Amino acid sequence: MEQTNACNNLKGRHILLGITGSIAAYKAAMVCRLLKTAGAEVQVVMTALAKEFITPLTMATLSKNPILVEFFDPENGQWNSHVKLGEWADCFLIAPATANTMAKMVGGIADNLLLTSYLSARCPVVVAPAMDLDMYAHPATQQNLRILADRHVGIVEPGDGELASGLVGKGRMAEPDEIVAFVNELFSEKKKSLEGKHFVVTAGATIESIDPVRFISNHSSGKMGYAISEELARRGARVTLVSGRTALDCPPGVDRVDVLSADEMYEATVEAYGRSDGGVMCAAVADYTPLEAADHKLKKSDDDLVIRLRRTRDIAARLGAEKGSRLLVGFALETDHEEVNAESKLHKKHFDFIVLNSLRDAGAGFRGDTNKVALIDDHGREDLPLMSKRDVAVHIVDKMESLL
Ligand code: CTP
Repeated sequence: MEQTNACNNLKGRHILLGITGSIAAYKAAMVCRLLKTAGAEVQVVMTALAKEFITPLTMATLSKNPILVEFFDPENGQWNSHVKLGEWADCFLIAPATANTMAKMVGGIADNLLLTSYLSARCPVVVAPAMDLDMYAHPATQQNLRILADRHVGIVEPGDGELASGLVGKGRMAEPDEIVAFVNELFSEKKKSLEGKHFVVTAGATIESIDPVRFISNHSSGKMGYAISEELARRGARVTLVSGRTALDCPPGVDRVDVLSADEMYEATVEAYGRSDGGVMCAAVADYTPLEAADHKLKKSDDDLVIRLRRTRDIAARLGAEKGSRLLVGFALETDHEEVNAESKLHKKHFDFIVLNSLRDAGAGFRGDTNKVALIDDHGREDLPLMSKRDVAVHIVDKMESLL
């Protein structure tokens, strides 16, 4: 009862409930009932294996709608249109989601109605994983979860406890009330804390051309800057993400400006900064660029090759010099004398605070999905433990909010 009252954003919402073949499918009955009690309309799509765990009759009775399993009804040839389901749904919730279904979602495999509906869905998608602890911990599953999260699929973390196998560990599907509360939160219309603010974020690596084939760059993946952009946008801020080369998708609600060189990043960032409330300087910007890029492919000879480099312009320093009342956050990636170097950049570039990561810390720095950072300002240093880049982004944006 308490749960129903709390889930007051679900009234009239169209929830497509996907059920896959896991023993946790029995809990889908309770998920469906809670959604219905909260006023949502529910249609259920099941995989063929899911029918072995919970009957279509149970789910049809609870959802008050026929259950969809096949692409068409063999009796009368009526087509179950996944495109229409995708359009109908305000949220596609897959609970339980097996390792197999999530792997197929990652790979774009469309061999059942649930998966074709996923590929057609324009609405937010949420998965509640359920599986044995070793399957859950397997690097393949963990990688698939990260990819789904990067594609903005909501993940209701499984709990720890006794599993159907008798083993004890992480993998048990979250409880129905938690899952429904997660979906309810998606429709929350509470005022976003950064509404009306505009930030410019730089991210990724710049590319400095030597000739039409070669370039100078660095190992930055852009993940940290993208996670910060996503968190700012989630809190209602307008975000201009000036992005060097990355392989990442643009987070929802973020305006991305693609650039290649440090010079292009400088121009785009300065332009956006003028009308903003501040900036987060996450990009790994080249400090030097070839004096001249050859307009043809350089041919090798037996001699050594000398490429003369010139200094690039420092974007953060320029933004710091004309900061006014704006908020400016910098990054320092160091290998030695970390704190001294970070503090020097904090003052030189007029950052409000600087995020220090040391390449000496395991799990910190380029490419990975985790980071270990310290937030340093004039008042001191806050060391955060090793955590996902998403969680680091939450801490950074929390600190930004506290300074606004
Ligand atoms: N930065 C920038 N433009 C540049 C160089 C750096 O905006 N041309 C920003 C980075 O995004 C980061 C901060 O400045 O927020 C520190 O960058 P870093 O390259 O580590 O510092 P530098 O001042 O270039 O010092 P050094 O390379 O000597 O460590």
